[in-house]
Amino acid sequence: MSDIENLKSELLAQVEAADSLQTLEDVRVSALGKKGAITAQMKNLSGLEPDQRKAMGQALNALKGDVAAAIEAKKEAMADAELNAKLLSEKVDVTLPARPETEGFIHPISHTIEEVVAILGEMGFEVAEGPEIEDDWFNFTALNIPDDHPARQEHDTFYLPGEGTNGRKVLRTHTSPVQIRTMMNTKPPLRIIAPGRTYRCDYDATHTPMFHQVEGLVVDKSTHMGHLKGCLIDFCRAYFGVDDLPVRFRPSYFPFTEPSAEVDIGCTREGGEFKIGHGDDWLEILGCGMVNPKVLENCGIDSSEYQGFAFGMGVERIAMLKYGIPDLRTFFESDLRWLRHYGFQALDVPNMVGGLNP
Ligand code: PHE
Repeated sequence: MSDIENLKSELLAQVEAADSLQTLEDVRVSALGKKGAITAQMKNLSGLEPDQRKAMGQALNALKGDVAAAIEAKKEAMADAELNAKLLSEKVDVTLPARPETEGFIHPISHTIEEVVAILGEMGFEVAEGPEIEDDWFNFTALNIPDDHPARQEHDTFYLPGEGTNGRKVLRTHTSPVQIRTMMNTKPPLRIIAPGRTYRCDYDATHTPMFHQVEGLVVDKSTHMGHLKGCLIDFCRAYFGVDDLPVRFRPSYFPFTEPSAEVDIGCTREGGEFKIGHGDDWLEILGCGMVNPKVLENCGIDSSEYQGFAFGMGVERIAMLKYGIPDLRTFFESDLRWLRHYGFQALDVPNMVGGLNP
């Protein structure tokens, strides 16, 4: 019997030592296969005395079962170890930033437009778009700026080759033509904002030939100046994050609005330091007014039934004021050091719930 005990410990040690599925298979064949050690012992049974044969047979069967079970267990352990190694090598840390290899920032222009859209979107405005290469008629004539109007000269327009007021194309000088396109394509009530690029032939510390505006337009049966004021006061206070920001409406002139106003916000300039909020000074930030009835009529809207208000603001200007960016030209120099300083994290999307500037 001690032979069997020896054989058992020898075989189990071999099973334990097997370091691959192949060596384990070799162990199985050498123990349980046709020419295996246990099989050989089985063959010897016939030469034994009946008593001995029975005891030996039982012992060999038990040994066979033990070795087979040990091999099965080892196989499972090996499969587990293999899976664990695979899981470990393919491990992904899902808490890492989405793209650790990129170092991008959101440009202050994009961020500011997102902020404006977040504030006005919350008030129910929808985003509208129009082309940057615009018909003269949409950019000027329909907005009550006929060919001989002095306001045309003020716009420093980039004209594209072409003849006459109606055939000629321009790079849009403001986002106001989106007002026209919206009013011609959609029935009132309307409540839209149109952010986008605009172009004027001008270049110094406060002008670049390409810049951005956001246009706003509301048209409904009972829209009045009070709505215009409430909307823009709320907007200015939300955008600059100053709850009691002084906002002033100063009479002005635009051909497409009547009456027209420019909006100033309160500020201080003391000891060379500029601050937005209460103070003794004012700063102009946008133009607005009640849509001129002539413009409504140009778009096929009955001005005896409908009225509206519109506003337009410079995106670079309000971004410079809020983020303390001193020179407009730096926006378009594509200097990565500038972008790293003034840019915003990709996942910091402005919204009115989480706050505009996380
Ligand atoms: N389009 C005007 C500009 O570029 C701004 C404006 C828009 C004024 C809408 C009034 C109403 O200066």
